[in-house]
Amino acid sequence: MNPSLATRNGPHSAGIDAQGVLDSRMLPDPEFDLMWDSIFVDEEIKTRLLSQGLLNFVLRPALARGAIPLHGIILLVGPPGTGKTTLAKGLASRVAASVSNMGEFRFIETEPHALAGAALGKSQKAVREFLGGTVAEAAASGPLIVLLDEVETLAADRQKLSLEANPVDVHRASDAVLAQLDHLASENPNVLFIATSNFPQAIDEAFLSRADLRVDVGLPGDEACYAILNDTVAKIAQSFPGLNRLLDGHQLQEAGAACYGLDGRQIRKAVITAMTFDKRTALNPEQLTAQDIFNAVNMARQSKESA
Ligand SMILES: Nc1ncnc2c1ncn2[C@@H]1O[C@H](COP(=O)(O)OP(=O)(O)OP(=O)(O)O)[C@@H](O)[C@H]1O
Ligand SMILES: [Mg+2]
Repeated sequence: MNPSLATRNGPHSAGIDAQGVLDSRMLPDPEFDLMWDSIFVDEEIKTRLLSQGLLNFVLRPALARGAIPLHGIILLVGPPGTGKTTLAKGLASRVAASVSNMGEFRFIETEPHALAGAALGKSQKAVREFLGGTVAEAAASGPLIVLLDEVETLAADRQKLSLEANPVDVHRASDAVLAQLDHLASENPNVLFIATSNFPQAIDEAFLSRADLRVDVGLPGDEACYAILNDTVAKIAQSFPGLNRLLDGHQLQEAGAACYGLDGRQIRKAVITAMTFDKRTALNPEQLTAQDIFNAVNMARQSKESA
């Protein structure tokens, strides 16, 4: 195998290196399990995602398709940086770990731009080869979970695409996605697609209507803000134990309260920004103070408000 592909596919690779595949691996996967635990959202969201994922593999193989129109699609939408991709990967692993009677699960992550816009003039063919070839072949050898990240690039809303600005091929690619998804859904009840988007207005209505569950992941609430901040410091403290002194402290709680309005990515990044105020802290992160974190959070908030 091409060495760059071997690296790209990671140590638990499922060895699928076709066009449009960013990552492939066997599930459950320890790295993905950690991702599930690292996202702080309402427990209800995790319960519904996991339940829908399990229902996909319990109900669909058992029921006639005509009876219940399940397509095997879960859609996560929400603003950038709210943990959708991370949750999707974690979900894939958790579903695989909970379904014990179907054999080994495979996971494929799509490379959206390789399938859509980038291959102008070829996207319809690329989509057909990916869904009808790569995905169908992988599904033939066992249960499969496919991450369709940034799905709006793949299932673009045909109504909103102007034919002049967007070559007819993009329209056809959306049609091809829908036709292939219908075909896959009827032939392969052992496939689950987990799609994410921070731009649901741009997704084709027909795709939205095929999603079996749509979950809106919003910005983190008060409690989640603090939990993300505390968790970020705790993760760094695993390598720089001097930072344990900050955990659960009053000042960190104040910084957590100031995070409200930021997304999870911005909160985690604020802790790193806090280490840029003094190069001695950059050289020795254990010198970081709760005040630095508080200041970095406020800077992030101000830059978000003025954007
Ligand atoms: N609710 C959250 N709890 C903990 N960490 C979070 C949360 N939301 C985001 N993060 C962190 O932010 C980073 C970005 O998350 P991720 O890439 O999954 O977001 P996303 O919603 O897919 O963003 P985008 O829409 O830009 O693709 C990750 O490091 C993730 O751990
Ligand atoms: Mg994402």
